[in-house]
Amino acid sequence: MNAKNLPDAANLQLTPQGGLHHLLTLRGLDRHLLSKLLDQAETYLSPMGEPPIRTNLLAGRTIANLFFEPSTRTRASFELAAKRLGADVLNLDVNTSSRKKGESILDTIYTLQAMQIDVFVIRDASAGIPAYIVGNVEPHISILNAGEADVSHPTQGLLDLLTIRQCKGAFEDLTVTIVGDIAHSRVARSVAEGLTTMGVGELRLVSPRSLAPDPATVPRAIITDDLERGLRGTDVVMALRIQRERIADLQGIPGADEYYANFGISSERMKLAAADAIVMHPGPMNREVEIESGLADSPQSVIARQVTNGVAVRMAILAAVTESQKCR
Ligand code: CP
Repeated sequence: MNAKNLPDAANLQLTPQGGLHHLLTLRGLDRHLLSKLLDQAETYLSPMGEPPIRTNLLAGRTIANLFFEPSTRTRASFELAAKRLGADVLNLDVNTSSRKKGESILDTIYTLQAMQIDVFVIRDASAGIPAYIVGNVEPHISILNAGEADVSHPTQGLLDLLTIRQCKGAFEDLTVTIVGDIAHSRVARSVAEGLTTMGVGELRLVSPRSLAPDPATVPRAIITDDLERGLRGTDVVMALRIQRERIADLQGIPGADEYYANFGISSERMKLAAADAIVMHPGPMNREVEIESGLADSPQSVIARQVTNGVAVRMAILAAVTESQKCR
């Protein structure tokens, strides 16, 4: 597989009728569709302490989780989302699967496809894998990108949009600041794409210069290494960890203490932001590196809410793609 020869993932996602058949990236999905998914996700939320919403919408369907990179939140929430919609769920244990004996990812997919899987949820460290699989599975099957290299993480982007919308309302009136390793973050890219589509007022991306993004990938964002400028008056602050596993040469990349001293988000630094600003983190977080531990647990933090929203958003996506399968 050569990612450069693959069709643009943004063009592979919709049915001719405009339904969502695959979710590979937030690029190419319009504001109406994103809003519809967020609205649907809202219907799957119940007050904390009450039983979660359950339906039989996906009864008889089978969802396969294939995570070739570690995950806690995304994998668990896809499993819960599928079960709460009444689907059967297969969680492939990659460490004991035949991929360890040299089976290719496509042969693994073909094997599971023969067991009548309806939706594959895939996380992989290589760019282009979700689009490559779309081009090779039976056309009725849906592919959901659960994290693709440093390229995109669309379900995370959607749950972050939902959290921001719940806490802050209209995107047009907001300034959102993302602080951290923007260069290697699939979360930053998907959140930036989603916020841009939703018409966010201002998007600021703050990082050390060694972790700054290619400006061409985030054309409407303000890119800076000045944390004070990034935080001043902002409504939303999202902290990101340094993705050391994606960086071949760590020369010039700040260590944990240096990073925390210069870019760590603390209660003191949050005084620069709007008085009612919220703090987000996609997880997994490194306390006292990208975020002060007390701030992560403070009333300003919506990190737990992001996790709760993750299940609801993934339920909405599963519902949408299986609905599109019926219309094919
Ligand atoms: N945010 C996120 O993708 O977390 P996991 O790696 O735990 O799934």
